[in-house]
Amino acid sequence: MLAELTHRCPLACPYCSNPLELESAKTELSTAEWIDIFRQASAMGVLHLHLSGGEPASRRDLVDLTAGAAAAGLYTNLITSGIGLTEARITALADAGLDHLQLSIQGATPVLADRVGGYKGGYQRKIAVAEWTHAAGIPLTVNAVCHKQNMDELGDMLDLAVTLGARRIEIATVQFHGWADKNREALMPTREQFLKTNAFVEDSRKRLEGIIVIDYVGADHHATYPKACMGGWGRTGLNVTPSGRVLPCHAAETIPSLVFDNARDRPLADIWYNGSAFNAYRGDSWMPDLCRTCERKEIDFGGCRCQAMALAGDAAATDPVCVRSPLRALLIEQAEADSRAAPPPFVYRGR
Ligand code: SF4
Ligand code: FES
Repeated sequence: MLAELTHRCPLACPYCSNPLELESAKTELSTAEWIDIFRQASAMGVLHLHLSGGEPASRRDLVDLTAGAAAAGLYTNLITSGIGLTEARITALADAGLDHLQLSIQGATPVLADRVGGYKGGYQRKIAVAEWTHAAGIPLTVNAVCHKQNMDELGDMLDLAVTLGARRIEIATVQFHGWADKNREALMPTREQFLKTNAFVEDSRKRLEGIIVIDYVGADHHATYPKACMGGWGRTGLNVTPSGRVLPCHAAETIPSLVFDNARDRPLADIWYNGSAFNAYRGDSWMPDLCRTCERKEIDFGGCRCQAMALAGDAAATDPVCVRSPLRALLIEQAEADSRAAPPPFVYRGR
């Protein structure tokens, strides 16, 4: 379960996948409401909780929330930019039972990282947060979202992750959901960058075996088949927004036909098993013939519903990333044109 504790965030990353309209602080769930949801999640079989945002450290009750989640028996992972964390707060999080921390880095140098994050001084803060995390004995993953403007620095970002004591790095190519779609020309990697990054990851995995694990998500439009987004709709994951709306994926609100329940009004397990949004794309009855008769339908589950919505205007269409999709040519054509464009200035939220 991904708990978006808040949409507040001091950074302004141009690839933010949160919705265009953020939820305001006054609608956020209280400490007690979140902890009740964590208990319900644990009771219905959730094992792994991501405490995310926005920036989760913007919640003053982050330590209490972590303690509540740990007491409910959940494995807790904090996904953070690091801004808002102090050494004392990290020690308190460790004492509260935090199991793991994922720290985002936007570049390997302060100039690029702070420009991408839209936050001056962010880079230095992250270095300090990584050191405090390491000192507190919390396992660390570095998240590196890669795109046109930082892909050529990936070697330095990987070296930085090793230096910071990270056990794992997630190198994920930007996904064009939410705000990111406003920055397509500034972020879309070229085919050459994609191929170079593939080779770099393959080589680095061998070179750094036993030192750091590298997870890699390549650019969608260069793939042959789509990824099993969310591990399949309503199969293994759910997302709770700051105000308690329960979504099958973080971008599900881009599908206008869906109606979402709120954990303030309905038990979590009832939403998971019986909610209309969760049942909309479970199984294969919703699939177009192309997917329903395909030997890969239990591998990728027809791909990403939100991508189908964005490109085909129909969330039940075959994901246009798929080589068999009639819309693939359109996806590639758009992506290629964006990738070749000279990068315009970033469009930041609220500026
Ligand atoms: Fe996946 Fe559908 Fe493409 Fe088959 S046709 S590979 S199920 S997206
Ligand atoms: Fe929503 Fe892929 S992002 S299903």
